Amino acid sequence: MSQVDTRSETVTITDNSTGCSIEVPIMRGTEGPAVFDIGQLAKQLGIYTYDPGFRSTASCQSAITLIDGKNGRLNYRGYPIEDLAEKSSFLEVCYLLMYGDLPTKEKLDTFTHSITNHTLLHEGLREFYKGFRKDAHPMAIMVGVVGALSAFYHDSLEISNARDREITMHRLIAKMPTIAAWAYRFSKGEPFPYPRNDLNYAENFLHLMFSYPTESYTVNPVAAKAMDLLFLLHADHGQNASASTIRLAGSSQANPYATVSASVGTLWGPAHGGANEAVIEMLEAIGEPKNIDEYLARAQDKKDPFRLMGFGHRVYKTQDPRATIISKVCQEVLDNLNVEDPLLAIAEELAERARKEAYFIKRNLYPNVDFYSGIILRALGIPTNMFTVIFTIGRTIGWLSQWSEMMEDQGMRISRPRQLYTGRKQCHYIPIEERHEGEDFCAIK
Ligand code: SDX
Repeated sequence: MSQVDTRSETVTITDNSTGCSIEVPIMRGTEGPAVFDIGQLAKQLGIYTYDPGFRSTASCQSAITLIDGKNGRLNYRGYPIEDLAEKSSFLEVCYLLMYGDLPTKEKLDTFTHSITNHTLLHEGLREFYKGFRKDAHPMAIMVGVVGALSAFYHDSLEISNARDREITMHRLIAKMPTIAAWAYRFSKGEPFPYPRNDLNYAENFLHLMFSYPTESYTVNPVAAKAMDLLFLLHADHGQNASASTIRLAGSSQANPYATVSASVGTLWGPAHGGANEAVIEMLEAIGEPKNIDEYLARAQDKKDPFRLMGFGHRVYKTQDPRATIISKVCQEVLDNLNVEDPLLAIAEELAERARKEAYFIKRNLYPNVDFYSGIILRALGIPTNMFTVIFTIGRTIGWLSQWSEMMEDQGMRISRPRQLYTGRKQCHYIPIEERHEGEDFCAIK
């Protein structure tokens, strides 16, 4: 954990109704906004803070990922995403996020060997898939199968034991591609391939997705490189909704399989990781550039629930650096795979035209990580309903790193937010025979 500077800077909060005051320390981290340490507020003033959606609330200290929303910067353990995207690999980034720094070659080889040797699933889990309907959304299968892992891997669930935590993290990183690909194969009624230890992480996933036992399968290196990049770009993103989920769920000491399953469920939402699927659906609905204005108008119409999917971000108030990287490689991947996708031209024109509209400019709304990623995934032959599953594979290491950081924090305790109660004052129970339609039963004395 980085040292936090708790200089003597404080702010004074005074409750004018009682005249009571409290000195609130200001805490400063290595970079980014300072925070008020309000831990004593309730005890000393009997008042809680109110911040639905946590727009102004830091829930924890973390040394994993820095997001500089103003300048569009994203660092994993201090390393800029642009450098990692260009020079690193997904598994090396998994090591970086999990252990805190880049590995030596020997350590990366050992880590890679461990991940490679945990890609198999318990044979009983094959049967588990048969319980789902064929048309089940693959994210529903992910939530179910990941949560079920704790019923199969009992031997390392002592979460107070660092080695148990490490083995479980390796298992989850390694098994996600197998679980994900089998969800896809199940939906097509196709055989479930076994992982291959001679392939790297991204190659193995494409093999699991698209190989057939009836013929040899050669992974396209361009596709594997693009897949690895997408996993890397999705690996972590600070205290986003699904990362906050694993911290909340993990604070109850629940096992990591159950807590990751909870995060998978959170990621599924279209306001979060489900946006990549929604972007493609939006671009397909737009259909051709001449319809863009209609959708831009709808996105600005408060009476219309439609939002420009893949646009906007709680933290970034400029272009999401991941969107910049993905948009740069989009055309290159399509060209190398000899794929034409009319949606790319629509996406590019939509982004360009949106950024000229006062509505989007005023609100600092830019493309985020989900805006272009689906174009590459389509080029790789991955169906739209698998897009958030891809996000899940990449983000598993982020969730686990956030969870592990919390578990190593000696001061960690169960998360239990308070509320502003706006319900009824206390009232008396009224026997049912005295209740009449349209009466306020609570008002009866
Ligand atoms: C991810 O947190 C993370 O880090 C997430 C993530 C990660 O890696 O984990 O980066 C991944 O989830 C990316 C976001 C993917 N979701 C989408 O692309 C869905 C579309 N985007 C929006 O739903 C929205 O922008 C959010 C959810 C991303 C952010 O919502 P906020 O921060 O709560 O912003 P807001 O709703 O308060 O919006 C501020 C204003 C509002 O208008 P006003 O009330 O000021 O008039 O901007 C408007 C919003 O209506 N607005 C949009 C918009 N996004 C915000 N209007 C139209 N289209 C949009 N996409």
